[in-house]
Amino acid sequence: MTTGDFPSAFPGANWMDEVEQQAVLDVVKNRAPFRFYGPNEPTHALAFEARAREVFGKTFALAVNSGTGALSCAMIAMGIGPGDEVIVPAFFWVASVGTIVHCNAIPILCEVDESLTLDPKDLEKKITPRTKLIIPIHMCGAPCDMDAIMAVADARGVDVMEDCAQCNGGSFKGKPVGTFGRVGMFSYQLNKNITSGEGGLLITDDEHLYWKMNAAHDLGVPWRGAEPDSQPADYLWGAGRRMGELCAAVANVQLEKLPTIVEHMRASNRRIQKAVKDLPGVTLRKLNDPAGDTGPFLGVMLTDADTALAAVDKLKATGLTDLWRLADYGLHCYFNVPQLVNKTPLSPAGNPWSMPQNAEFVPDYNKGACPVTDDLLERTIVINIPSKLTAEQEQTMIDRIREGLS
Ligand SMILES: Cc1ncc(COP(=O)(O)O)c(C=O)c1O
Repeated sequence: MTTGDFPSAFPGANWMDEVEQQAVLDVVKNRAPFRFYGPNEPTHALAFEARAREVFGKTFALAVNSGTGALSCAMIAMGIGPGDEVIVPAFFWVASVGTIVHCNAIPILCEVDESLTLDPKDLEKKITPRTKLIIPIHMCGAPCDMDAIMAVADARGVDVMEDCAQCNGGSFKGKPVGTFGRVGMFSYQLNKNITSGEGGLLITDDEHLYWKMNAAHDLGVPWRGAEPDSQPADYLWGAGRRMGELCAAVANVQLEKLPTIVEHMRASNRRIQKAVKDLPGVTLRKLNDPAGDTGPFLGVMLTDADTALAAVDKLKATGLTDLWRLADYGLHCYFNVPQLVNKTPLSPAGNPWSMPQNAEFVPDYNKGACPVTDDLLERTIVINIPSKLTAEQEQTMIDRIREGLS
């Protein structure tokens, strides 16, 4: 897989080999594609969850069908609903906001800082008595400032769900992302650091929450052991978000490869950063913890929007292709999401925006709502750093970045 003169991004997919092939074959040979039962005993989803518990040092792990599914199950389990506000960074992925709307709750946008992740100072200002949940997103491969975010959340008694979809294998001060908040979620969609095509994971130490998420990911009834539980205490409305065995088999192999993949991206990224950081007028994205950055993107900040637009053209003219000015980065920016800006309702009843429980505060989501973020998105460019660059390709990339940004 190549993009121009370089290997493509899609880190996990580029590392797939006979180990994933064998894992998939095992599912088919065993005729056990469903995770809970079958003509023969299924093993892969259970093995994947067991390995995830070890990797993250968490008591509970739940495999689900996607990152969106993970967000959704967690919010259902937490009982997020009308009258609740959920804080998300204004630079996000649309799924992190859409799942809030699906709960009939109100997304509240928080500024990001030069790390392109949730600004703890603005977070403090955005919390109200209605705030039910904070979703820090470890964007573009690098961790949020989890010390500062947890300090604010704990002081105000608000739950945190970490969205680690873009930062599989990342850490903050030596602790894996996903392990700071009440719950952590991951995605294994193709663009992520590891992939099973589709897939997601939830991790937590909270047993009650785990059983609720377990119920939410199936038919509303938690699976305890071999059978769905017969006690109705944890019953709720299920969202049908199970992970299948084929997917789990691949996700499990990729989880083992994650440290190697991240190490390659991070090492290339560091060398590239070192080689371009002296360029006049260029500031590299702030990293809250460089050691915990997984490295799939180089973030460069220019002085203003016009300079950034011109730089995108110049960089592309050198032959680099996988790069974007963030303001043009589709559904990652709040003002580029028409259904958010227009407050598109879930149903003709107008919910959640028109619900009396939400009447106290329905924000404006037009550009200008988060001016600090707007400015950063206008003048920041992200460049994909493939996970399998040769030394020669890395040097070519450095030369082209230097040429494009000079
Ligand atoms: C930050 C973030 N959250 C959530 C998701 C949703 O994951 P998925 O595509 O697996 O549903 C993604 C992935 O695209 C993402 O980038």
